[in-house]
Amino acid sequence: MCGIIGVVGSSDTLSTLLEGLQRLEYRGYDSAGVALVRPGQTWRARAADGTQSVAALRLECEHAPSGFSSGIGHTRWATHGAPEAVNAHPHLDCSGNIAIIHNGIIENHSELQEQLESRGHVFTSVTDSEVLAHLIEEERAKGLELIDAVRQSLLIVRGAFALAVMDANEPDVIVAARRISPLVVGTSPGVTYLASDIPAILDKADVFYAVNDDEVVRLAPEGFRAVDLEGAPVRLHQLQIDWDLETAEKGGYDDFMTKEINEQPDALRATLLDRRHSDGTITFDELRISDQELREVKRVVLVAAGTSHHAAQVAKYAIERWASVSVEVDIASEYRYRDPIVEVGTLVIGVSQSGETIDTIMAIREAQRRGARVVAISNIVDSSLAREADAVIYTRAGLEVSVASTKAFVAQVAALELFALRLAQLRQTLAPSDIDALFQGLNAVSAQVAKTLTRRGDYESVAEQLLNTRDFFFLGRHVGFPTALEGALKLKELSYLHAEGYPAGELKHGPLALIEPGVVVVAITTDPNMHEKILSNLAEVKARGATVVAVATDDDEKIAAVADFVFRVPATEPMFTPMIDVVPLQIFAYAIARGLKHEIDRPRNLAKTVTVE
Ligand code: G6P
Repeated sequence: MCGIIGVVGSSDTLSTLLEGLQRLEYRGYDSAGVALVRPGQTWRARAADGTQSVAALRLECEHAPSGFSSGIGHTRWATHGAPEAVNAHPHLDCSGNIAIIHNGIIENHSELQEQLESRGHVFTSVTDSEVLAHLIEEERAKGLELIDAVRQSLLIVRGAFALAVMDANEPDVIVAARRISPLVVGTSPGVTYLASDIPAILDKADVFYAVNDDEVVRLAPEGFRAVDLEGAPVRLHQLQIDWDLETAEKGGYDDFMTKEINEQPDALRATLLDRRHSDGTITFDELRISDQELREVKRVVLVAAGTSHHAAQVAKYAIERWASVSVEVDIASEYRYRDPIVEVGTLVIGVSQSGETIDTIMAIREAQRRGARVVAISNIVDSSLAREADAVIYTRAGLEVSVASTKAFVAQVAALELFALRLAQLRQTLAPSDIDALFQGLNAVSAQVAKTLTRRGDYESVAEQLLNTRDFFFLGRHVGFPTALEGALKLKELSYLHAEGYPAGELKHGPLALIEPGVVVVAITTDPNMHEKILSNLAEVKARGATVVAVATDDDEKIAAVADFVFRVPATEPMFTPMIDVVPLQIFAYAIARGLKHEIDRPRNLAKTVTVE
């Protein structure tokens, strides 16, 4: 998730780009760069300085030559290649005339890079994006106009992109294109803009247009024209914008949490992109542990904190079932103090959105000290956890701002389940056809989450009716149990109410004593294998006066008999249910907190990243 901006025909190009990048920092900030283009000259500056990258870029630009009326800028959230200046955008072609910025992932970049290198192109970064500059260079060498060169290049790339391209040999033109990653165009008299989202250009442009998938736009000072990938003209849809800047940064939502809940389909899609070769082999570019080592793993230990710990708990079920390896899940802050046993063949996986949680880092250090091989699952490229681990798998959820984690959780579950499938593939514990079916199923979750999000209003109206509740129990079985824990955690974090997650089977061993009228029990009932058992648990709490809310599949006809309220969700393979079932629970917790007038993005006493023990 990166931020992109471009302008043609401006009298203050550089400051427009830098101001825009500042406002796009919430999309990512690990490095930043600009390119200015005029006849025969492309000037570029880039900087990488953690959260201060845009400020560092400003310093780099202090001595920029003047007289450029067009340029592009980028703030990066790394997915391929470390967050260093050399990997920052814009990227240039071999001649140095063509500059490109890109948000997204080019799935077939390795094979394209190989082909381009064999034809003499020299790459200077470790990014998937740079192939675009060289592909466009080749098309331009055939004599094509920039817009056609971009179009032709896009016909051969797979993946997601919002990109902008300039060429010093066709100055005062930017060509932009989109597939999956967002892109808007803005106009004002004599100046045309583009951006990954509105805030970057909100105070500059007067009229805004949305670019759709597989559309290519040629921007010039006097306006723009758009075509599809075949070159046929298309009309861009004009957007009605009545936002102020703050709302715009939140994508038009009231807060970052709502934005991030809504980004979950994209987080899943991005995390799963580019993970399987055409021969069916599941791959993780970032994984640096050999197949042989993975084949010989005897035990997996997952360590994590908070929401990441719940994702790790889901992974235990998947790895044990699919790969037949025994799995233990530990709270990171406990692992290090309990003399953990590390034998030959123990693989430790540290799961952390930030990759900076002190407990998780100390846990993997302890594991390494005892001889374990360590894999990190991190949402931040080159985080401390990613650097210290022997191997890393990145979730690609994009920057998560809200303290209560949402999209990082679904991305972690997807990455971990994909890893479980890879282990199964290597250890031959599942038939290739089963792996194929599960992989397809995993890819379909994104659309199912999107469908679930359309039911937001239904979930919110239940929250409104339960606003006066003080005690909640969340129950689940199998992977429904970590989902229940996550639902309870979301509610605690946001509403400050008492909420406990329990394995439904444990109910009789204590919590049942607390059930009385006024208590709300939220149950995950979506797994057909667990359905009967959980329904009888619900009958027990109902008989004692509890109000029952059930997360149930669309086709569940029995649930109405026991539940007072039902959160309907689409059915899926049981192992994938946490990614879907958590959605109504996130919305429920959010709506209760809103009803109680609590701050959403920064709950009291909590921090996004805990860096003290
Ligand atoms: C804090 C955050 C949680 C997060 C947990 C683990 O408690 O408030 O949202 O789940 O840390 O963070 P990590 O970055 O390691 O996933």
